[in-house]
Amino acid sequence: MLNLKAVKITEKVWWVGAIDWNLRDFHGYTTNRGSTYNAYLVMGEEPVLIDAVKDHFADEMLARIASVVDPRKIKTIISNHSELDHAGALPRAIAEINPDRVLCSVMGEVALKAQLRGDLKLHTVKDGETMDIGGMKFTFLEARMLHWPDSMVTFLHNEGMLFSNDIFGMHLAHSKRFDDETPDWRYEAATYYANIITPYSNIVTSFLTKFKAKNLPVKVIAPDHGPIWRKDVSTIVSLYEKWAQLKPYNKGVIVYDTMWESTTMIANAIADGLVEGGSIAKVMPLKANHRSEVAYEVLEAGALFIGGPTLNKQIFPPVADVTIYLKGLNRKNLIGAAFGSYGWTPDGPNWIETQMKEMGIRPVGSTVKCKYMPTAADLDAARKLGLETAAQLKQYDR
Ligand code: FEO
Repeated sequence: MLNLKAVKITEKVWWVGAIDWNLRDFHGYTTNRGSTYNAYLVMGEEPVLIDAVKDHFADEMLARIASVVDPRKIKTIISNHSELDHAGALPRAIAEINPDRVLCSVMGEVALKAQLRGDLKLHTVKDGETMDIGGMKFTFLEARMLHWPDSMVTFLHNEGMLFSNDIFGMHLAHSKRFDDETPDWRYEAATYYANIITPYSNIVTSFLTKFKAKNLPVKVIAPDHGPIWRKDVSTIVSLYEKWAQLKPYNKGVIVYDTMWESTTMIANAIADGLVEGGSIAKVMPLKANHRSEVAYEVLEAGALFIGGPTLNKQIFPPVADVTIYLKGLNRKNLIGAAFGSYGWTPDGPNWIETQMKEMGIRPVGSTVKCKYMPTAADLDAARKLGLETAAQLKQYDR
């Protein structure tokens, strides 16, 4: 047995999760600072485990639990979400702990059965149901599509503690557990929102409205990734309310890749126009920027320009990658344009133009397409795109 220790969070709650210092990819989102899988042990008269960890961190979680209590005293496990970074270790935990039941949402039962094998001892709870377990009062609230159909959150009344699962989380491996001990959290929180939560922004708004109407006295928010919120509870909630609006900002993101620098020249001309017009330009060549960094910048932007050349009658593949990724994230309320270069046929820039139309990005001007190298007229058209964009964005905050 490992000799890892639990971390005391409140009088009755311990962190018994795992730190993944190695993680660098989370289904396509680059996690340069690793992550944590936060599991929690609630020590009422009868211990309760809330969520688990990735399968290969099961020993770490069980060891941390054992530093507080004999794991076999746990009769109830609460599974807020079935994605395998939280449920992967459940079969092993069930085998070692032998609980009476694993509580989950109705959709959680479906998803857990589909992903895991064996007797999972599942017992569904209703949306809004309250349960007393060993003198601790829990309320379960469904958070469907935040970000899976099964997602739910659990409120522990005794400690004023919301176990929010993925919501309000971030990928940040750290030796400290609280937000006030990891004060440089904003970039990671925004990156997480941008890459995981953006498509469900309207659900964020309706969920937070529903949650606030319950007037639950939240003192601590304990997500399943990254720091636990005890200082900046209202700050992170306000940021979610703001990000969920997907409102435009006075900033243009120019993302592109290039073969012989023609597309680079157009990108730089658009950026010059943006800056000349009083906007911020963020130029993101894909040889230097991962798609998840682009998503982060787009979260607080008002315009998006995507550029790329034609290769073998197709779009240059790295540009297809970022375009499809951004299309899935469904960031609304953007203006922008496609751009790019070609030798024989403009299939590459045309493909981007079609994709941007399908993404609902309102064109700020015509696609700038240059044959081989951009002419002075092409670069002037690109600069004018930037200027026109800046004129439309100047009404918004930076
Ligand atoms: Fe952290 Fe949706 O899993």
